[in-house]
Amino acid sequence: MNLVTQSQRVLSGMRPTGKLHLGHYHGVLKNWLRLQHEYECFFFVADWHALTTEYDNSSIIANSVHDMVIDWLAAGINPGSARLFIQSQVPEHAELHLLLSMITPLGWLERVPTYKDQQEKLKEKDLATYGFLGYPLLQSADILIYRATQVPVGEDQVVHVELTREVARRFNHIYGREPDFAEKAEAAAKKMGKKNAKLYQDLRRRYQEQGDGEALETAKALLSDQQNITLGDRERLFGYLEGSGKIILPEPQALLTPAAKMPGLDGQKMSKSYNNTISLRESPEAVEKKLRTMPTDPARVRRNDPGDPNNCPVWQLHKVYSNDELKEWVQQGCRSAGIGCLDCKQPVIEAVIAELRPMQERAQSFIEQPELVRNILADGAEDARDVAKETLREVRSAMGLSYK
Ligand code: TRP
Ligand code: SF4
Repeated sequence: MNLVTQSQRVLSGMRPTGKLHLGHYHGVLKNWLRLQHEYECFFFVADWHALTTEYDNSSIIANSVHDMVIDWLAAGINPGSARLFIQSQVPEHAELHLLLSMITPLGWLERVPTYKDQQEKLKEKDLATYGFLGYPLLQSADILIYRATQVPVGEDQVVHVELTREVARRFNHIYGREPDFAEKAEAAAKKMGKKNAKLYQDLRRRYQEQGDGEALETAKALLSDQQNITLGDRERLFGYLEGSGKIILPEPQALLTPAAKMPGLDGQKMSKSYNNTISLRESPEAVEKKLRTMPTDPARVRRNDPGDPNNCPVWQLHKVYSNDELKEWVQQGCRSAGIGCLDCKQPVIEAVIAELRPMQERAQSFIEQPELVRNILADGAEDARDVAKETLREVRSAMGLSYK
């Protein structure tokens, strides 16, 4: 790992919604696949989050968890690079959620746009619950318990990362102050050795006096590189750089997942609620059937009627799967009625089947070895708990809860 990525940690969660489809693959999982090679990654099944809306139908959560994890693994998420676990198997999330709830103003939660939006959207459910209001704060706890620096999320979740930043800032502000903070920070700097201490002080001055952002980044990298300082000193030195108190809970960044709009069978975004999906486990026969029967440009009633790919959901799929040459063939052939719609669909059918085949082979091997999946999740939870416990220890101590 290089200097920049060394201290960076990625965390993301997904609600257990059962078997995943191509929309999840192109929208989220491909992004995770890339991240797992670049960063230390924690990916978890957000089963408690699912309970905030499915509390009266909780059996579907249990049934979904393993299928979803099998699909992660099938897509190539590698438990050797990323930690995979189930949220409720790391109860530290709940304790941090409780502690953060003490300092979170109600208005911050009421103002989160998803709060009212989802209540509107899911009218048939009673979401005027304490758990539902607190759900973005639970997400903050999910993130902060790992001191994650990057959180890959879709557009709708960026506000939750923003809330997390505010909560972290408030926590650090309230609990990061020590009466002799500056002296302790100076002493901590000396512990890095003469040369590093001087470098740290120079960089800090350049940032504080001249607003030199590069100096700040270099100083942070310098701190991340230090092997021999305690966690408490590290927090002090990070905080001292920016002039605040200790930074116990660092502020994460949202890593906006590029809105890969995987079109569904009807041209709308692929989503279970639109009933337009191709699941990752769909058999080749089913893929073929779904694609052969999907609608095309309504202007092409007969084979001889020319069409316009812009009015056709199949064209949207060509944009995902086809190279320039093939796309040109579609454009020409459609507009001149030179090709039929089934001809046009054939390369997409082949591309989807080819994309799914290796995933389905991997899925099959995990389906046949359920204990393997259970072990992966157990190991992931154990590693996650090691990190989570360490953070909680710091948090409890900062809040005055470490009784001896
Ligand atoms: N709230 C997210 C969703 O509904 C899932 C989630 C829970 C999450 N905790 C998280 C995502 C922490 C990123 C980080 O999709
Ligand atoms: Fe759609 Fe292709 Fe038929 Fe044109 S030829 S209408 S792009 S399926």
